[in-house]
Amino acid sequence: MNAVLKVTIRDKWWAHTGKRVSVLQNIALQVAAGESLAVMGPSGVGKTTLLRLIAALDGHFEGEILVDQKPLTEPDGTIQMVFQDNRLFDWMTVRQNVLFVWDRPDAGNIRKADEWLFRMGLGERVDAYPRELSEGQKKRVALTRALVRPPRVLLLDEPLAGLDTPTADRIAADLRRIQREFGFACVVTTHNVMEAVTLCQAVLVLDGHPATTHGALTLGDVAHDSNLAAQAIGTVKDILVHDR
Ligand SMILES: Nc1ncnc2c1ncn2[C@@H]1O[C@H](COP(=O)(O)OP(=O)(O)O)[C@@H](O)[C@H]1O
Ligand SMILES: [Mg+2]
Repeated sequence: MNAVLKVTIRDKWWAHTGKRVSVLQNIALQVAAGESLAVMGPSGVGKTTLLRLIAALDGHFEGEILVDQKPLTEPDGTIQMVFQDNRLFDWMTVRQNVLFVWDRPDAGNIRKADEWLFRMGLGERVDAYPRELSEGQKKRVALTRALVRPPRVLLLDEPLAGLDTPTADRIAADLRRIQREFGFACVVTTHNVMEAVTLCQAVLVLDGHPATTHGALTLGDVAHDSNLAAQAIGTVKDILVHDR
């Protein structure tokens, strides 16, 4: 595979009362251009921790993150992460939240932000504040901020969690369309099988303490090997088989 993103985590640990406690061990994943990988597993297993390592927001681990074969050591816009809680600035308008990605936005940046907001269905809300938006609209602002300078790798931490189904479906469809156009690699954490199926071509199941993986599975593999999947996501086989 011609991977845009190649990740090896040999060990990620936290210090708990002076003791080193491993949370992730021996994890390897790759994602090609235009593809999405779902990282699944129960709450607390280490999904967000893994995304933060990939985003270079946490350098305390043993392993490598390669983007287009080059090591990534600090956040530089090549990788964008959308946090589960969106991380919007309450005191900034929608447009200002998006413009925040530039140090000193110029007229061209403002035009670009407005174009993206329009395309993301927020054309009428550019001057609104986050508190005036629905949950789906807030997610769209966070996504716009991550996409306005299209990254090589997009990391989405439980992007559809807490959204009603029609809203989640519309956002998923828009994301798929934008990904087809721009060809970035995407990693999506979720504990929801339907999110994985809607957004991704392959699934990586994280499980155990420390969490490890059994290699990336295609949705077909998961559907045909319930043992692999059932450890972390009980009914995955039925859902995948019946919904594909
Ligand atoms: N900054 C931190 N310091 C210490 N432990 C942490 C920190 N962040 C997360 N953890 C622990 O790491 C584990 C994995 O957390 P997380 O990656 O948030 O899980 P998930 O996203 O899968 O729900 C949990 O046990 C959590 O308590
Ligand atoms: Mg999490």
